[in-house]
Amino acid sequence: MSLIEDAAAVRLNAHAPYSGFKVGAALRSVEGRTHLGCNVENVAYPEGTCAEAGAIAAMIAAGDKRIAEVAVIADSPAPVPPCGGCRQKLAEFAAGDVVVTLATTRGATLVTTVAELLPGAFDAGFMDAPDR
Ligand code: THU
Repeated sequence: MSLIEDAAAVRLNAHAPYSGFKVGAALRSVEGRTHLGCNVENVAYPEGTCAEAGAIAAMIAAGDKRIAEVAVIADSPAPVPPCGGCRQKLAEFAAGDVVVTLATTRGATLVTTVAELLPGAFDAGFMDAPDR
């Protein structure tokens, strides 16, 4: 199965009773395994988590460390851009040139990269200050 097909399959498990908007994410780790996530909403709305965050959590829980490729899919008129928080989360675990494929269940795809999604990302290097 392709990464997009993996994302489409896990999307069906999304828990999105409030928005009605199901999202699936699949990532391949540098270590070579595939990890999946879907959005999980909560009646206390801000407590919900995005599909991308779920896939990253699955990767870390499985013991892998770095992302090699990402696919995200939703049923939308155009490929859905990850939210700002998920861009930061992806940048924490993926190099800037890692490919992110955004897809729709209607057949559209948009291929981008982590650096295109979050130019000038904050990272731990900025915390290497002499006065700290
Ligand atoms: N959502 C994701 O899971 N990933 C995205 O990239 C965009 C938005 C979810 C969050 C929420 O459950 C629903 O889509 C509507 O915002």
